[in-house]
Amino acid sequence: MIRDDLQDLEIQLFLEALALRHGYDFRRYAKASLKRRVRGLAETEGVREISDMIPRLLQDEGFLPSVLSHLSVPVSEMFRDPAVFLALRRGVLPLLDSYPRISIWLPGCATGEEPYSLAIMLQEEGLLHKAQIYATDINDAALAKAEEGIYPEKTVTAMAAAYLAAGGRKSLSDYFHTAYNFSKIDDQIRKSIVFAHHNLVADGVFCETHLVLCRNVLIYFERQLQNRVLELFHEGLVRGGYLCLGNRESLSFTSCENLFRPLDRKHRIFKKAGGLA
Ligand SMILES: C[S@@+](CC[C@H](N)C(=O)[O-])C[C@H]1O[C@@H](n2cnc3c(N)ncnc32)[C@H](O)[C@@H]1O
Repeated sequence: MIRDDLQDLEIQLFLEALALRHGYDFRRYAKASLKRRVRGLAETEGVREISDMIPRLLQDEGFLPSVLSHLSVPVSEMFRDPAVFLALRRGVLPLLDSYPRISIWLPGCATGEEPYSLAIMLQEEGLLHKAQIYATDINDAALAKAEEGIYPEKTVTAMAAAYLAAGGRKSLSDYFHTAYNFSKIDDQIRKSIVFAHHNLVADGVFCETHLVLCRNVLIYFERQLQNRVLELFHEGLVRGGYLCLGNRESLSFTSCENLFRPLDRKHRIFKKAGGLA
């Protein structure tokens, strides 16, 4: 067996052990980037062969957080792709205003920057008081950080321009309390979000929702898993509800292609078909 094939087999066995021992199933994630991340984990752990990590995976509970943090890519930014937030602000939030209560689901919320950005926008558009935001992820360490809502001051400063480009009406720093080089999100914003563990691979619909914002998550999944997850979103959305995907994600060639119609193709915003215009 040539070396690359052997490594592929080791990765397969590693993922099998992870799924069977801990219930985290990465077997239907896109292969190329997953391989890079498993190799990165082996490097961090200082092991020569990927199979050397299997006994640890089976026996050492303390190893799991490190595995998940390597494999799940919990990176995010506030107002990431500001043009998308601007499109949501101008094109979707006014439509959501017609509902007496608004429920929004952000699966794959990582460390919370995206739900906080959305909550700030809802606040500025006068909708936060009637909105419930659910932000979910499989990575519990990322969720704990998200729930804390504390970021390095320089990260918040660096996102100020994105906030303004997304149509921000104040200054991003108005939503944070800063001390000792760290900035904590305002309590009113923080309390509008429920953070919870939810696994898109294995769990059912999280809630009935008017908007699903799931960006830069499907890109890590193979088509079959993308189909499962999109079907979950379709099921959770009310008739005429909205779905927003990441810049490099689309509904094309998925099982849900005909269940949504584009509202804003450029910014990957779709409307669940079957509702009123
Ligand atoms: C690159 S981040 C995207 C963060 C945010 N949506 C954004 O665009 O800035 C991908 C997130 O998806 C989460 N994730 C990966 N697999 C998942 C799964 N099966 N269920 C739920 N979340 C998952 C990861 O833990 C990670 O936090």
